[in-house]
Amino acid sequence: MRKKMWIFHRVDHSKCFFFIWNQCLYYAAVACLLFSTVRTDVACPEDCICARDSGTVTCRDGKDTEVPGDIPEWTSTLILKGRNISTLQRGAFMSNGTETELTTLSLSYNGIRVIEHYAFLGLPRLHLLDLSHNSLEFISARAFHGLLELRSLYLNHSLLPPATEQLSNALSTQSLPNLHRLELAGNMLKHIPQIRLDMHNLHALVLINNSIESIGGDNVTTLYQQRRIRFYLSLNPFRCNCELEAFYYWLKNSSQCPDAGRLVCSEPESRRGVPVETLREEDLDCMNENLEAVSYVFLGLVLALIGVVFLMVLYLNRGGIKRWLNNIRDACRDQMEVYHYRYEQDSDPRLSNVAV
Ligand SMILES: *[C@@H]1O[C@H](CO)[C@@H](O)[C@H](O)[C@H]1NC(C)=O
Ligand SMILES: *[C@@H]1O[C@H](CO)[C@@H](O)[C@H](O)[C@H]1NC(C)=O
Ligand SMILES: *[C@@H]1O[C@H](CO)[C@@H](O)[C@H](O)[C@H]1NC(C)=O
Ligand SMILES: *[C@@H]1O[C@H](CO)[C@@H](O)[C@H](O)[C@H]1NC(C)=O
Ligand SMILES: *[C@@H]1O[C@H](CO)[C@@H](O)[C@H](O)[C@H]1NC(C)=O
Ligand SMILES: *[C@@H]1O[C@H](CO)[C@@H](O)[C@H](O)[C@H]1NC(C)=O
Repeated sequence: MRKKMWIFHRVDHSKCFFFIWNQCLYYAAVACLLFSTVRTDVACPEDCICARDSGTVTCRDGKDTEVPGDIPEWTSTLILKGRNISTLQRGAFMSNGTETELTTLSLSYNGIRVIEHYAFLGLPRLHLLDLSHNSLEFISARAFHGLLELRSLYLNHSLLPPATEQLSNALSTQSLPNLHRLELAGNMLKHIPQIRLDMHNLHALVLINNSIESIGGDNVTTLYQQRRIRFYLSLNPFRCNCELEAFYYWLKNSSQCPDAGRLVCSEPESRRGVPVETLREEDLDCMNENLEAVSYVFLGLVLALIGVVFLMVLYLNRGGIKRWLNNIRDACRDQMEVYHYRYEQDSDPRLSNVAV
């Protein structure tokens, strides 16, 4: 009997506990809801359009030259366009000193010239960063520091020559451990930028529409070493001579260039417009080219030799030639004398009188 009562009591206790727990949860939920509505009530920034459903804030062509500091908490995509931003300062996207939940940040066409160190601080979830169509002159070595989740970085039509040099330093595993895709189209690059071998996650490097004329043997070795990277190289002005041989074999053997079929020669004149892949192996053979050069030199030597021999013959025969020349001169003189005599006869005044 005693035992039973005790059991009953215990059940009662647990019921009570369950009730209190439920109440607690309820109030916590209400508090959370209230709190979050308060936090997200930040007004849409001036000159921007806010679409809460898609989490997108779009700011175009404002007179503002700054990054808007107070974007709503729910923003996952921020698009700034046509602003004269010029310099991205340290922590430019920190919202009141705290991290944001942005996953996509598009900053194309903003006249950005300088990216200072730690500019993208406080964006730990950023997946995609588009910096295309700016005029970057300076990129700090720590510009991209802290973009731990960044997978795609677009820098199309954006790099000026000094920034091109600096970019290699800014691309490090430390700053961008998850970078998958780097797009550098239309930057007038003359070489494939150096990518550190420890950027293990980089899988695509887009170098379309640049100024790459040739990729030498040493650099082709580096391409083979970075087997996981796909290089997109169409719309570059390739010079299809024998310097391109190693690259040509890389194109054929490695399948690292997805747009290999669209690479076209722009030099020499005779091969302009010819797809690199359709060249024959002997077209790019340095031995052939060297042989050709050697044969021209040989021809030159032979001609020179013939010339020398001719001069020698002339020289050795100079006695005979002199005699021959003298003979000619004598013959000429005889001829002239006859002619002179005739002329004198023709111009005799007595004869002309007779004629009249
Ligand atoms: C952008 O701002 C800079 C100064 O920050 C100014 O010199 C430049 O003229 C501006 N450019 C445009 C297109 O407004
Ligand atoms: C920004 O932070 C400061 C203190 O760091 C605080 O006083 C202020 O209310 C915050 N503003 C917003 C909009 O959260
Ligand atoms: C360049 O960047 C844009 C994003 O602004 C992207 O959509 C495009 O595919 C990129 N690549 C090329 C080759 O233009
Ligand atoms: C290639 O880049 C130049 C500028 O560098 C641009 O004017 C041209 O439209 C681009 N071509 C293509 C096919 O994207
Ligand atoms: C290899 O590429 C680097 C830049 O990445 C360049 O400075 C160098 O001239 C290139 N070497 C050859 C042989 O093309
Ligand atoms: C590439 O393939 C060609 C034959 O198709 C071969 O002669 C050459 O040695 C190969 N090069 C490399 C580096 O594998």
